[in-house]
Amino acid sequence: MVFAAHLALLALSAIGVRAGNEVEGAACNPSRNRLDEGTLNFLSDCNAQTWCGPDNICLKRGCRRDIYPYGYYPIPYDQLPPLCSETEFCPDEGSACLPKSPVGGPCQKDRDDQCQPPPNQKDLASYLNVNGSICLNFQCYYANVEIGQPCVFDNTWYSGQADDGTTFSYMVSRDNCRKNTYCDGTTGQCNQKYDKGHGCTANKECKSYNCVIKTAGQSGVCGREADEPLKPKTWVYVVIGLAIAICLIGVMTGLWLLHRRHREENQVKLQDYYNEQIAYRQSIMSMSHAKNSLLSLPANTTPEAARAQLNSEADSMGLSTSNGLLPPNIRREGSHAGSDDSEVLLMDQQRLGSNMRYRG
Ligand SMILES: *[C@@H]1O[C@H](CO)[C@@H](O)[C@H](O)[C@H]1NC(C)=O
Repeated sequence: MVFAAHLALLALSAIGVRAGNEVEGAACNPSRNRLDEGTLNFLSDCNAQTWCGPDNICLKRGCRRDIYPYGYYPIPYDQLPPLCSETEFCPDEGSACLPKSPVGGPCQKDRDDQCQPPPNQKDLASYLNVNGSICLNFQCYYANVEIGQPCVFDNTWYSGQADDGTTFSYMVSRDNCRKNTYCDGTTGQCNQKYDKGHGCTANKECKSYNCVIKTAGQSGVCGREADEPLKPKTWVYVVIGLAIAICLIGVMTGLWLLHRRHREENQVKLQDYYNEQIAYRQSIMSMSHAKNSLLSLPANTTPEAARAQLNSEADSMGLSTSNGLLPPNIRREGSHAGSDDSEVLLMDQQRLGSNMRYRG
């Protein structure tokens, strides 16, 4: 149990990126000013707003490198230590702005920005240096060595943590060769960098700075740049375009079919309602006509004579001729929308025995 706790503490201190927590004016030990082993982050006994001065006391920082520096959270922007001018730099400990070093002058680990830029900085600048200057082994260089010339390199091991918590280490090799060349560790001379697909043993040998090594210890192949944009082939555009068009057409056709169906169903309902109303009206009209006719017959008329009389009168009024009084729209036979429950029998036609159905 105690052993496990010790292990955990050990792991914490190994990873430990934590700065000290002594405040301004507190005692500290300047020999403990150091770079973190894994990240090369500056650490001391003092907190993020101070640094351990030569008098063994934490002093307020005199400059900053970041616009919004770490560890200054509640402090207002205008009270932060100043940023340095273009000809100066702020050292790791943040003591004060110092003038940049010339070639051969001192610099802190990987702080290329502490070196004065070369006169032709535009030709020499690349993403592997700062404005054409580079700090190797704590000394300033211009990144200007030509192919075949002797060069200086600086190999640094870093440790990182993978997603699953395992720690791994990797080496970064930096050198003072010109853009698109690298310093070969065995010959000590600058070589041309390789194009994508060429064999390689380290990132620096590839123009893309990405040597893809499948199995550790074996040589790899220069891969594509980490920030290289994906360029889909023409057929991908065509397929995606077609897919979008087909989708649109499908949706529109579907909606059109749906609407057509609804419209037709509605039409059938309206027709049925209209037919029914006409049928009621006709029934009422013939009933009232029959009543009037029967009342106007002589008192001793036989039922047969009365019926004959009625039928002949109805014919002469045109009430019962099959289509005579029907509105124009129900003369259309067989409208196409099918709903079997919307059948209507016109009553006068039923009476005449024609039994004609108007289907919706
Ligand atoms: C690099 O050069 C540019 C243009 O001269 C300058 O604005 C920039 O501050 C320089 N960078 C550093 C870190 O000195």
